[in-house]
Amino acid sequence: MSETKGTALITGASSGIGAIYADRLARQGYDLILVARSADKLDKVATEIKQRTGRKVETVPADLANAGHLLAIEALLANDPSITLLVNNAGVGSTAPLLEADVNTMSAMIWLNVDALMRLSYAAVPAFVARGRGTIVNIASVVAVAPELLNGVYGGTKAFVLAFSQSLHRELAGTGVHVQVVLPGATATDFWDVAGTPVDHLPAEIVMPADELVDAALVGLERGEFVTIPGLHDLARWDAFEADRQALSGILSTSTPATRYRAAPQFEIQS
Ligand SMILES: NC(=O)c1ccc[n+]([C@@H]2O[C@H](COP(=O)([O-])OP(=O)(O)OC[C@H]3O[C@@H](n4cnc5c(N)ncnc54)[C@H](OP(=O)(O)O)[C@@H]3O)[C@@H](O)[C@H]2O)c1
Repeated sequence: MSETKGTALITGASSGIGAIYADRLARQGYDLILVARSADKLDKVATEIKQRTGRKVETVPADLANAGHLLAIEALLANDPSITLLVNNAGVGSTAPLLEADVNTMSAMIWLNVDALMRLSYAAVPAFVARGRGTIVNIASVVAVAPELLNGVYGGTKAFVLAFSQSLHRELAGTGVHVQVVLPGATATDFWDVAGTPVDHLPAEIVMPADELVDAALVGLERGEFVTIPGLHDLARWDAFEADRQALSGILSTSTPATRYRAAPQFEIQS
């Protein structure tokens, strides 16, 4: 067994993208802490990885939408010095339009996709900064910049993940802590059943196999990328979009309203 790279804590590791991250990171030499609600599925993933790699794999069944469970994972991140990598992957989506979506389901989605990811980052970051090293991988989505494609609340949660990661990336520069945000497009996982549209209803040419998505994201991580969009072939398009966004950020706030918002002059009708 090779030297350990430390421990990777992966949320949503019982299936799909998270389970593949678990496999790949163990092969790279990480020990693992796997978090999700389904204890049986976590155990299955853990057993297979242990057999394949001989690495240490711990499972922590937890519902990240439950405040008490979430606090326990926050405590792990804050207090276990072996943890060097956090993969904030657990998330749910929806394909329902606003008029057909239940507002409580939307709130639960915000709690998991936004609050839990934010709180886990808040737990990990100070510990990583104190040690001068550590990595946070946040799984967003292409809907972060294309919220019209699916349910708007889901798009909003992933726009939060991108914006929060952009801010973290800037704030943590020079601390030795690396942030990567991954924007998967449609990926073949159980996500789509939970979201309300089976994945085989999507055009095959827009759906990426989950193992290829994770392998690509890990290549991006290895290269020190901040934003990784495995399905985007023409990277220059993102670079141009990002350059525009950053240029805009310097001219959005001024002391006077733009001339287009001046009230139209009132003309008096001469009799
Ligand atoms: N598949 C796509 O097309 C796609 C595209 C862009 C982004 N993403 C993002 O990728 C991430 C992973 O999704 P996936 O595609 O791999 O789907 P998935 O197979 O459904 O995996 C979701 C994972 O999150 C866990 N989870 C759900 N609710 C949870 C909760 N309350 N507490 C703890 N864990 C919870 C699930 O495990 P349990 O049910 O056992 O808790 C599962 O392990 C999500 O953030 C998703 O938004 C997916």
